[in-house]
Amino acid sequence: MTDAAVMGRPTTQIYKEHDPELPDELRTLLIRVMSKHLENATNPHYDKLLIKLWDRCLTLAPDPESKRLLAKLMMQEVEHGVITANILKGLGVDKVEIPIEQYLFNIPIDTWCDLCYFHALGDRVGMYVGENWGDVPYEPLRSVAPRLHRDETFHATLGYQNLTALCQTPEGLAEAQVLIKKWWPAALDMFGTSASRFSEKYVRWGIRQAGNEELRNQYITDTRPMLEQLGLVVPDDKANRQFL
Ligand SMILES: [Fe+2]
Repeated sequence: MTDAAVMGRPTTQIYKEHDPELPDELRTLLIRVMSKHLENATNPHYDKLLIKLWDRCLTLAPDPESKRLLAKLMMQEVEHGVITANILKGLGVDKVEIPIEQYLFNIPIDTWCDLCYFHALGDRVGMYVGENWGDVPYEPLRSVAPRLHRDETFHATLGYQNLTALCQTPEGLAEAQVLIKKWWPAALDMFGTSASRFSEKYVRWGIRQAGNEELRNQYITDTRPMLEQLGLVVPDDKANRQFL
């Protein structure tokens, strides 16, 4: 968050749960962003996703240690859903039933390589958007933000380590080279369209660190070299994209 963005705020106060002084604009944005946040223990669509992912993790993990680490990752995803549900409850929202928007979550995870990409690229988006709430002046969210960010960093790092190991064999690298065409555009599309009318307010309240396009570009700058280092040829950033 830039100093200019923080200074653009009406106040530097930090609000507690049920704080009568919570500004309407912040309250509206919090309800909107947390309701749309896919990790939510009250949302049956999230439960369905978790069930699919538990199955994929336990089925595709190639060895016991990978299985253990993925089970730890999955437990954290369940806990994230409970955290979101509690924050929404404090804002007066008891139940959410919103389908998951990003199509990345609907891509079939058929092979271990798919699962490596799901975590290495998909969870990595969470480090930039949706799990980066350390500056939000709402105490219930602010207090869990470092933990959420740490967990998502673990998920993305685990995915990248798994992908790295896979790419050590010619067959693994060849498979990863085919599948990157599917996962790279889907990860970039998770940031949403470049022209979102809510970006500016989100940034002002620390809910977002920057607009969609800026965060996507940062993600590309950071992630592309990591993939190239494994010997992968990363597709053009505009190829096969749905949200430009
Ligand atoms: Fe995650």
